[in-house]
Amino acid sequence: MVNFIIIVFLLLTAISVVLFAIGIKEAFQNLLMKRSKRKLQLKVAGKKYIGNQLVELTLKRKFPLLPLPGFLPGQYISLKFNISGKDIERCYSLANWSRFPFCYKLVIKREPQGICSGHIYDHLTVGDFVQASMPTGKFYYDRVNSFGNIVLVAGGVGITPMRSMWEYLQKHKKKGQNVVLFYSAKYRDELCYFEDFLKEADKSKGFYFYPFLSQEAVDATIYYGRLSARVISTFIAVKDISRLYMCASAQMMEDLRNGLIQAGMFEENIHFELFGVSHTGEAKACKISLGKSCTMDYEGKGTLYQFLETAGCKINGFCKAGICGNCKVKINSGKVKYLLKPDCKLNEGEILPCCCIPESDIILDELNLKRAI
Ligand code: FES
Repeated sequence: MVNFIIIVFLLLTAISVVLFAIGIKEAFQNLLMKRSKRKLQLKVAGKKYIGNQLVELTLKRKFPLLPLPGFLPGQYISLKFNISGKDIERCYSLANWSRFPFCYKLVIKREPQGICSGHIYDHLTVGDFVQASMPTGKFYYDRVNSFGNIVLVAGGVGITPMRSMWEYLQKHKKKGQNVVLFYSAKYRDELCYFEDFLKEADKSKGFYFYPFLSQEAVDATIYYGRLSARVISTFIAVKDISRLYMCASAQMMEDLRNGLIQAGMFEENIHFELFGVSHTGEAKACKISLGKSCTMDYEGKGTLYQFLETAGCKINGFCKAGICGNCKVKINSGKVKYLLKPDCKLNEGEILPCCCIPESDIILDELNLKRAI
């Protein structure tokens, strides 16, 4: 009888411990969720044009003596604007890193069809306030599991999360670890922070910087040509790369990823971040209808999302890279072509306009796309 009571007592204690642990875990998760939903009111403390259609923003608190919420190198914030009466939100990777940041730095490229980037580039001024999300994102430098040689690959404005990781590693690189940054752009005036990277690689042991230009030969400090897995392997043997982080166009990352895997790199050691899909080529002109209510002419330029947004449709994407699923719409007829493989679950008849272009006349469900103009 005594044994039975002891067993029941132990069982009840074990159950209480498990429930207590679950409670703590949930409370912690709630706390994180609340943190991620908080909004920040930030002041534009600096705006600097740093290259061809590139602007660097420095954002601070209204009372700049207080530090901003910390973040992991590689994470992003979103900025929300009201442009022509419409709320528009866009994500931008943070381009700096500090344990207690007193400012957030962003580099924004003015996209030809970009409503938000155009507004920031042309109209936002020092002293303005912007609404920002808390720093977030699953793409970040994993300091616990990153040992051995680290390779960072950036294409164009994809340098921003790499700049943050580079700054972090300047302070926290492990002993014997090498950090190799490959930075590719089309033209010299698209390479931001170029001199800083050169200087830092020069004075810091274990840091290497290899810039590339694909469309312009400048001087001996910059390689001329396309960055590929084969080119990377001439600077560092693929077997010597412990982890590789990259942020570039969808096409460049796909090519690099396939090349590196073929060369023997494990897929789980390749981490990447998309910074929005763009379509700069010409697609087929066609008709896009919203149910039976209206039909518009698509002239073959930009993604379907860019077209719908410019046309004044009620569409509110977040990542612009087929990840968040916010821009999902129903398609009633017609075909679209994806510029990259969507990374979120889609039900039958749903598409992600942010990462596709129409391939034929299409009819979209008008219910969640009502035009605001
Ligand atoms: S905007 Fe995120 S999936 Fe389209």
